[in-house]
Amino acid sequence: MTQAPLPKAHVRCQLNGQPVEFLADQHMSLLEVLREVLDLTGTKEGCNDGNCGACTVSMDGRIVDSCLVLAPEVDGRTIETIEGMAPPGGLHPLQRSFLEEAALQCGICTPGFLISAKALLEREPDADEHRIRHWLAGNLCRCTGYDKIVRAVLRAETAMAPKAAAGRTRRKKSA
Ligand code: FES
Ligand code: FES
Repeated sequence: MTQAPLPKAHVRCQLNGQPVEFLADQHMSLLEVLREVLDLTGTKEGCNDGNCGACTVSMDGRIVDSCLVLAPEVDGRTIETIEGMAPPGGLHPLQRSFLEEAALQCGICTPGFLISAKALLEREPDADEHRIRHWLAGNLCRCTGYDKIVRAVLRAETAMAPKAAAGRTRRKKSA
């Protein structure tokens, strides 16, 4: 006897500031929903098993690997993807600093790094290099060697909160 397929999940959430509703197979990941159902292909697939961070999005203010979140779990949540990062008509300071520091090559890891770095700077606007490297440890990059990415985050910090960045520099000098 064949089993009847599970009914699709009916999901309502806030996505990049807009209410969104979709139907998805119960076993689909948020990553698959974003890319295949909602046509938001900025979030990238790397390993698809929670190891690389390429699929990082924000869910209720926490960064998560979207390949590990099932579609039904998204119901009622607030999701932010890379498509929601830039203000209208411009770039987020992190996006600008990644360009200015040439902190990307193939770009597969970049949306995940940007979402993770944004979450850090919202919590810790004066994070130092050590803290940035620690926070971004879940995001892997095969191309850049990480130094340019860290420099880009420090540069964005200065652009976003110059006083906090100055405090960081003072602490470093007096250490
Ligand atoms: S694709 Fe999700 S962690 Fe690698
Ligand atoms: S720029 Fe290619 S993996 Fe990071």
